[in-house]
Amino acid sequence: MDSMVIVGNGPLRGKTFASGSKNAALPLLASALLAKGSHHFENVPRLADIHTMLQLLRHIGLEVSMQHNTCSLHNPGKVNPEAPYALVKTMRASVLVLGPLLAQYGKAKVSLPGGCAIGARPVDLHLKALAAMGADIMLHGGYVEATAQRLRGVDFRFETISVTGTENIAMAASLAKGTTRIRNAAQEPEVVELVSALKKMGAHIEWEKPNELLIEGVEELSPCQHSVCADRIEAGTLLVAAAITGGEVFVQNAQAAHLGAVMEKLQQAGCTLYEECCEVSKKQGLRLVAPQRIRPLQLQTQAYPGFPTDMQAQLMALLTIADGSSEIRENIFENRYMHVAELCRMGANIHVEGTDALIHGVPQLSGAPVMATDLRASASLVLAALRAEGKTTLSRVYHLDRGYEGLEEKLAQLGAKIERIHA
Ligand code: UD1
Repeated sequence: MDSMVIVGNGPLRGKTFASGSKNAALPLLASALLAKGSHHFENVPRLADIHTMLQLLRHIGLEVSMQHNTCSLHNPGKVNPEAPYALVKTMRASVLVLGPLLAQYGKAKVSLPGGCAIGARPVDLHLKALAAMGADIMLHGGYVEATAQRLRGVDFRFETISVTGTENIAMAASLAKGTTRIRNAAQEPEVVELVSALKKMGAHIEWEKPNELLIEGVEELSPCQHSVCADRIEAGTLLVAAAITGGEVFVQNAQAAHLGAVMEKLQQAGCTLYEECCEVSKKQGLRLVAPQRIRPLQLQTQAYPGFPTDMQAQLMALLTIADGSSEIRENIFENRYMHVAELCRMGANIHVEGTDALIHGVPQLSGAPVMATDLRASASLVLAALRAEGKTTLSRVYHLDRGYEGLEEKLAQLGAKIERIHA
């Protein structure tokens, strides 16, 4: 297993960029199951989770090729509608093949998902919605076995907002008979991205309200070409890297429109943020200038447009060195404080009670051997290590590889002392 050695090296400075969004790319790739023919996606990040999804689609019967960041998928029209445990266990988003398989082929056998160890994370709402659309669903031997003649439209309200749940049902409903209304739909930019790609494929899908989708099912969809939007979580993580080291960094492709709640908190912490256009590439991005000392904050995670749970661990790393005490409340996942014990080993002063974390800022962190436990927890440990005095060795970096394309190269270009040790 690879590890990473990071030695705190002062403020990060310079220019970097955000790659394509992992969470936008995953449902887009799954949408290739909905239409026979050749689909092309650009700006697809080269990440372990993307590789898993491509392996899964290959197993199902799609021809897959990836050149640099362009992914081509050929759907021959005849598939093996099964997602085996060996592939699904590493990535919860594999469940995204369930809706499309059922809608297009009337049959799906999908292993119940694994993924990050951040709570129970059931898929009951995906199944409830598909059952309401007429699917016959059985749970057997760790698998969801579902069949349907043709799914029918439904008026469905998600009792809890679910990102992949909304995506799964939006894809399924695009080929269902009749009208589907998805109430309390997730509004994350990645869902908006999928909806616009489905439209290109010929789906009759519209946002009725910011949190409500109306879908008129069609008989057939056609393949599409789509370029994936920038990863707002990666962009946010790079901005925090600048903030925690007291530096100044321009993150090309970082979109202010997707990062409202994160920018607001960084500004409250004393950072200055500008929207800028890179003179060379002419591409938009965000510049962050860090303050002398970070101010403490109160924040809670919420569904979009609230503060994203996927940025909670990174903001916590930042607040460990704030000038005072901060409070974080995690509302989305129940077990998402696994980075806390590791941050404390680096000198942070954090107390967790249930969903609340109280963070007493310390003037300095110190390097230590630490272990990554999930994707965003790993990112928070990298951020803390960039700021810490001395050497941090981060083990289990495969978690990081699930969601960050070339993170160590990007940070090194900004002046970080960071090196991967291949096992
Ligand atoms: C997606 C993101 C993930 C992010 C999360 C929340 C992808 C591939 N992953 O995950 O990075 O952290 O949104 O923004 O896009 N729930 C149920 N039953 C269900 C589905 C969800 O109870 O059937 C609960 C979950 O346990 C959780 C909450 O709903 O407490 C939100 O989860 P959800 O939005 O579904 O997360 P994912 O789509 O898996």
